[in-house]
Amino acid sequence: MTTEIERAHSTESGAQTPRMPQTPGGFPARRMRRLRRSEGLRRLTRETMLDPGDFIFPLFVSEVISEPVAISSMPGQYQWPVSEMGRRAEELARLGVGAALLFGVPAHKDEIGSSAWNEQGPVQRAIREMKAAAPDVVIVTDVCMCEYTSHGHCGLVRDGEVQNDETLDLLTREALSHAAAGADIVAPSDMMDGRVAALRAGLDGAGFSNTPILAYSAKFASAFYGPFREAAESAPQFGDRRAYQMDPANGREALREVELDLLEGADMVMVKPALPYLDVLARVRDRWDLPIAAYNVSGEYSMLKAAVANGWLDERRATLEALTSIKRAGADMIITYHAIEAARWLAES
Ligand code: PBG
Repeated sequence: MTTEIERAHSTESGAQTPRMPQTPGGFPARRMRRLRRSEGLRRLTRETMLDPGDFIFPLFVSEVISEPVAISSMPGQYQWPVSEMGRRAEELARLGVGAALLFGVPAHKDEIGSSAWNEQGPVQRAIREMKAAAPDVVIVTDVCMCEYTSHGHCGLVRDGEVQNDETLDLLTREALSHAAAGADIVAPSDMMDGRVAALRAGLDGAGFSNTPILAYSAKFASAFYGPFREAAESAPQFGDRRAYQMDPANGREALREVELDLLEGADMVMVKPALPYLDVLARVRDRWDLPIAAYNVSGEYSMLKAAVANGWLDERRATLEALTSIKRAGADMIITYHAIEAARWLAES
């Protein structure tokens, strides 16, 4: 694309400084402020719009509680008992929020995370409650082992190391049980190699060839997941996740991750976290045309809430600006804990 300044430059052979187009009076012909003068003009020329239909709201469903439990590190967020999930779905439907993303907090954890594929597990029961209450709300499930394993790692551990290939079978069983319970989309977040292909084969083989996969493709080993681990009770009991999640320094590698997931059959891909990785999001957008999700993670949410609680930021403006920037960088969908409040603000404006 040639800019106005470059065009002006190229007509002046040998000119050292670019010449702006000018009116006879000597004023700049191009005044950028003209289109900013009124809300009507700003709205007309706005490039990026937020729509609650593009929001995905994460929900933590626990089978060990009977009342909602506030998550202290994420003000305004709760662990929900299964019995509340119908009402959660109705609220999302009422506000026009696009989808829910479910995380389970099971009563029982073991070495292999066997609660993950329990038909009566918290996520499986929540899906049925939500579908019965509000069948049109799209349900996405997080497919990972860390909430279900006693050691808190995202896969099977042997000799202190997370085993890639053996984990694929466990993830497949989990995804199948979510699909069987009625999940609309399964979203593997474990970062094992080959998991999209394994899930696709497993789903197709069990009659779920119409269940899409949203792959957490570029998922970085991020400090910003801190508050989530309290919410999902999924902190690793030893070590960290850097041997399977991505190094925050790597942008090109994220493109390779996305490419592999696409080759393996992912229907949609994700960049996570969102705000510290908008450059990665924009590069993925430039390169591919499939739907892209960005995960505005727990730490991004908690930072903003903390600043608001201190009176340092205007909550509504800061939140909507952050969400807009994620959309502008190229996300089609935003997974965000702000979904409910943002949907309310958008309905008011
Ligand atoms: C599970 C998972 C995590 C998040 C989503 N799925 C935690 C992790 O990888 O440690 C983080 C979400 C958030 O911080 O909001 N693997």
